[in-house]
Amino acid sequence: MNQFLEEVLNDLSNSPKRLNSKYFYDEKGDKLFQDIMNCPEYYPTDCEMEIFTAHTKELALALKNGFNTFDLVELGAGDATKSSHLLRELVDMQVEFTYMPIDISSSMISYLEESLPLKIEGLSVQGLNGEYFDMLQQSNQLSSRKKVVLMLGGNLGNETPENALAFCRKMRSVLQEGDILLVGFDLKKHPATILAAYNDAAGFTRDFNLNLLHRINSELGGNFDSTQFEHYPTYDPSTGACKSFLISKIDQEVIISGQTFIFEANEFIFMEISQKYSVTETEELAAACGFRTVRHFFDHKQWFVDTVWQCV
Ligand code: AVJ
Repeated sequence: MNQFLEEVLNDLSNSPKRLNSKYFYDEKGDKLFQDIMNCPEYYPTDCEMEIFTAHTKELALALKNGFNTFDLVELGAGDATKSSHLLRELVDMQVEFTYMPIDISSSMISYLEESLPLKIEGLSVQGLNGEYFDMLQQSNQLSSRKKVVLMLGGNLGNETPENALAFCRKMRSVLQEGDILLVGFDLKKHPATILAAYNDAAGFTRDFNLNLLHRINSELGGNFDSTQFEHYPTYDPSTGACKSFLISKIDQEVIISGQTFIFEANEFIFMEISQKYSVTETEELAAACGFRTVRHFFDHKQWFVDTVWQCV
């Protein structure tokens, strides 16, 4: 059985029901996420873009950390719009490095391998298509250079704080003392600002969540009627957890690959967490996982931070 099917059957048999947001990103999901990033309410992309354009040189110097040779690994590179500013700066500084983008999307990886060296002359790219830790291990086998790892976009926010801790500890275990990690965190701010970013007026975030039901229908032989589910985003300022749910509008049954799931009216499916952090919480996370916080890079509103950690 494929992993997607296995996880979906398991997650919908769970009480309460849930689905994994990592499956949001099929072709339609990628497109909807682009729409989200371009809509006025979704601020994180703009904030991080500002950091990468306004502080490119300082960022490059902090990541280089006095070294002139390393592998630059990016987890969940996507189309590498933000990191391309950094890549160009490092090439201009004549740093000797290979850019190793890791992404779950194979088409994204081939696109990067083809297009980036044309856009940035002199850049060496080695794409890795797969899950983060498998591909990190592969990058270690490909080269024994010092590693600089980028984890942008607040991707770590899609883990609960507990899982983020486990993730960062695991990350530390595959790196060496002195290696560098750049992690993006969306910061706690006015609750209404956060909630609006996950409840855009155009409905892209709603469609992004509902798209996973469509994906289950087409790839796993499901029969979800997505019009019978309502997008319900929440933000709890006391925990920093921004969660989205789909609420069943009626009593209904859904069949997926021959297995029946019963939904009661008002029953929810937990779809996604986007955890928000305080700066202190990012520092505590670093310390608890064997990293030293070297430096924070903020946008001018201080809504987002790209923080540089070094393995101790
Ligand atoms: C890609 C994980 C950073 O959590 O803000 C955007 C995904 N979900 N709108 C986020 C997302 C709903 C996004 N990340």
